[in-house]
Amino acid sequence: MGERVLVLLVLVFTFFLVAEAETAHEDFIALWSLMDTLKNTPASWSGSDPCGDSWGGIKCTDSRVTSIKLSSTSLTGELSGDIGSFSELETLDLSYNKALTGSLPPEIGNLQKLSSLFLVDCGFTGPIPDHIGSLEQLVFLSLNKNSFSGTIPPSVGNLSKLTWLDLTENDLEGAIPVSSGSMPGLDKLLNAKHFHLGKNKLSGKIPPQLFTSEMTLIHVLLDNNQLTGNIPSTLGLVQSLEVVRFDKNSLNGHVPQNINILKNLQELYLSNNKLSGPLPSLRGMNLLTYVDMSNNSFDPSDFPPWLPMLWNLTTLKMENIQLTGEIPATFFSLVHLQNVVLNNNNLNGSLNIGTNYGKKLKRIELQDNKIERFEQKDLASNIKIILVNNPICHEEGETQSYCSDAPANVLYTAPTSSCPPVTCRSYQDLSPKCKCAYPLMGILSFRTPSFPDWQNYSHFGEDLMDDFKANYLPVDSVSLKNLTLNQLQDVELSIQVFPSREDHFNRTEISSITSVLSNLTNYPFYFYPYPYEYYEPMESSKKSNVAFVTGAIVGCSVVLVLLLFAGIYAFYQKKRAEKAIAQSNPFSETSFMRGQRVSKDSKIMIPQLKGVRQFSFAEVKKCTRNFSQDNDIGSGGYGKVYKGTLPNGQLVAIKRARKDSNQGGLEFKAEIELLSRVHHNNLVSLIGFCFERGEQILVYEYVPNGTLYDTISGKSGLRLDWPRRLKVILGAAKGLAYLHDHANPCIIHRDIKSSNILLDDHLNAKVADFGLSKTMVDCNKDHITTQVKGTLGYLDPEYYTTQRLTEKSDVYSFGVLMLEMITARKPIERGKYIVKVVRDLIDREKELYGLEEIVDPVIGSESSTLKGLENFVDLSMKCLQETGDDRPSMNDVVKEIESILLMDGLNNTSGSIASISSTFDEITRGTSQNLFSNESFDSGVVPLQPKIEPK
Ligand SMILES: *[C@@H]1O[C@H](CO)[C@@H](O)[C@H](O)[C@H]1NC(C)=O
Ligand SMILES: *[C@@H]1O[C@H](CO)[C@@H](O)[C@H](O)[C@H]1NC(C)=O
Ligand SMILES: *[C@@H]1O[C@H](CO)[C@@H](O)[C@H](O)[C@H]1NC(C)=O
Ligand SMILES: *[C@@H]1O[C@H](CO)[C@@H](O)[C@H](O)[C@H]1NC(C)=O
Ligand SMILES: *[C@@H]1O[C@H](CO)[C@@H](O)[C@H](O)[C@H]1NC(C)=O
Repeated sequence: MGERVLVLLVLVFTFFLVAEAETAHEDFIALWSLMDTLKNTPASWSGSDPCGDSWGGIKCTDSRVTSIKLSSTSLTGELSGDIGSFSELETLDLSYNKALTGSLPPEIGNLQKLSSLFLVDCGFTGPIPDHIGSLEQLVFLSLNKNSFSGTIPPSVGNLSKLTWLDLTENDLEGAIPVSSGSMPGLDKLLNAKHFHLGKNKLSGKIPPQLFTSEMTLIHVLLDNNQLTGNIPSTLGLVQSLEVVRFDKNSLNGHVPQNINILKNLQELYLSNNKLSGPLPSLRGMNLLTYVDMSNNSFDPSDFPPWLPMLWNLTTLKMENIQLTGEIPATFFSLVHLQNVVLNNNNLNGSLNIGTNYGKKLKRIELQDNKIERFEQKDLASNIKIILVNNPICHEEGETQSYCSDAPANVLYTAPTSSCPPVTCRSYQDLSPKCKCAYPLMGILSFRTPSFPDWQNYSHFGEDLMDDFKANYLPVDSVSLKNLTLNQLQDVELSIQVFPSREDHFNRTEISSITSVLSNLTNYPFYFYPYPYEYYEPMESSKKSNVAFVTGAIVGCSVVLVLLLFAGIYAFYQKKRAEKAIAQSNPFSETSFMRGQRVSKDSKIMIPQLKGVRQFSFAEVKKCTRNFSQDNDIGSGGYGKVYKGTLPNGQLVAIKRARKDSNQGGLEFKAEIELLSRVHHNNLVSLIGFCFERGEQILVYEYVPNGTLYDTISGKSGLRLDWPRRLKVILGAAKGLAYLHDHANPCIIHRDIKSSNILLDDHLNAKVADFGLSKTMVDCNKDHITTQVKGTLGYLDPEYYTTQRLTEKSDVYSFGVLMLEMITARKPIERGKYIVKVVRDLIDREKELYGLEEIVDPVIGSESSTLKGLENFVDLSMKCLQETGDDRPSMNDVVKEIESILLMDGLNNTSGSIASISSTFDEITRGTSQNLFSNESFDSGVVPLQPKIEPK
């Protein structure tokens, strides 16, 4: 402490002497406090004058700090109240600093001149302080993608200059505040163009007062909340509206009839609510390009006659809303039309697309309707029509291409580069201008899922280039790739920004570039960067302080006399300084696991992890001996698994994603978050992860006895007798029951199979591989997915045909697994589907139901050694019922297996589960640990009567 005060004295003294003339001292002190409370402030913060050119991210006017832009600089720590001292500050951008945590200090309200506040994608928690309402000059407020909680403070309504309000993706709850009496509310924001409040937990009604005719709103995004009640008819007062998202709430009642007076509306999302009454008429809303009304409780209605008149329509989604009758061919002649999704209705008669159909038409989904005829000549080959589960497909079998589905997840892939073939160094990439360099990479995530035309975004790269040029940033080119629909049904686009000055950006440049990208208010997407850390390994700010202080002491020794003066000044500032020191982070030393140091940008995408460590790439490399072949213990489409040893001796299994695997950073994050939440003896546990240099690595506990698949198939040399098989399957059932009933939110695994069940030393089963898992609010209720995922042979046919996912899909896969336990056959072997084989063979009159011929010889074929087999088979058949509703829950399955285990002649081995019955003298223990979905596939092309044999 004493040492620090001395350092402080010298610092304050030096700056006071040298810098006062250039930078106002209150700003300097505030900067110093920032430097002291936060780690990783720029190394360039070491000259004598913050308002000179050298302090990265700082801009001044008349010696006062007016702009602080420190986006994506790995700032670590909590913001102190001293942030409120920059009394002339106009712009504050601290975006993309995931390790910037704690609450937003109320002193933020002291920034009376602030016009832009960007805290996008940081680690803030706690409430948004009421004092935010004091920022009278505020125009842009972006707090999206943090963990802010509590309610939206009504004082936000005081921000009369605000045009941009973005609180998306937080944990905000309670009602949307509107004014009453002297209390302000969002309805007072007459200059606001954007209300982005989606992906929170807002509840209550959408207040009718929220909308007035004086407003100038163009976007109202309230999707993915818990709002209830009616859509207020006052919405019609806001004539400027262009995009309205109310989807994924619990809104009910009738849609106001006056909705079609919103003549400027381009996108309307009402899907996944409980709206009732007549299907609202959108007649005359001729600018509409995107309409989604799916999954509501509207009265049955004919295909709406006004639809063929919405000239600008590109996408129509009306799934599951009881549409009847035929679709008029005129509808398909809309010139902009691309995508039509009308699954799960009662549309009947013939499908006639006409000859004059729109040139842009790509996809027509009509699954689960009553269409009987489809005659179309000269249909362009790139138009995909899906009529699965219509009478027409029942009659004509599966031969027609329209009777099978095809995934639609990749929406656009940029043309491959036209550069001469060059191999760049690893982590480098070829820029559009054919130079190898280290690009800044990230994701552009669309705020609305409409993506009318790739052409609409092709100029985005050029616009960005203009912005970069205007900021004198050394950017060579921008490349946009891979327009995809992710698991959450968000549309994403990959972006790469290439450097021009050298083959990499320096830290200051990264910060400036991401700062431009944190303010994409003119575009329909958010930018989320991946870590960029090939160069300039981080120097902790402490180190640079020390270097600086040393220099300062040398410089100052000639003017020793003035120390006294400095002392007096310092005394003045003592209180503030002490406060600053108290708030500094004590954990600055590197611990053995560097992950705890929250180093570099790598923490950028990874929030909220309990008990999960972050590893550096170097550590992972070391503990797998540079990913040596000897340590390779399994592989799959996704990448490889290595065995590793941590410095403390603990064995781990390390799953390293292939560089070209399709999993994006967000999905990787989702998997880590999911795994860090679930803890159960029958689930494999996550120890840590590494997200660095484009690597996606997960570190799991090492489970020594390999997979259940290896055991059952005889690969591992381990032999399980019948009672032990029952115990293993009971373990797996418990793990799964935990995911369904005890995890919150609940989790559907989606890829239950024997190669995803691991066995530990005590032959305790552990469910692994959550790569395809889906978190849901209620696993009992169905959830429509556009992409059916799972593994051939284990996949629930109901889910496959309807795309409705519930926990019962896992139960089906579990049923298949049970049959595998008895027969040791793959689900599909030599073209035969095990479920059908067993079902056909069962003869309940006979002993062992007459299944001896297919029972795995390893467990014998005597009914005396196979106690309870009949009950087990009965249970598996219940799990394999056609409809999910008829299948038991995993909890029921657990109970039933337990009761089988209690039968006479079975539980006498229970004393030592670990003893291994083996027909061999020596047991060679399997070492393969397959954490991958080897044979996972994405939807579509697999026939229900399986004919394909998996590898
Ligand atoms: C809102 O502004 C008014 C004056 O414009 C002020 O009296 C009131 O205290 C402010 N309310 C909040 C919550 O900041
Ligand atoms: C919408 O339709 C109008 C009239 O047909 C046309 O002028 C306008 O260009 C269209 N807008 C878009 C975005 O396609
Ligand atoms: C980073 O690059 C900029 C030019 O874009 C340069 O002015 C600055 O000195 C560089 N910073 C470092 C630390 O090299
Ligand atoms: C953010 O973007 C808007 C619109 O492009 C622009 O007017 C504003 O100056 C930008 N703000 C900052 C801090 O760059
Ligand atoms: C786009 O997708 C391709 C193929 O999946 C992949 O190799 C490439 O890395 C992706 N590009 C970016 C920028 O993510």
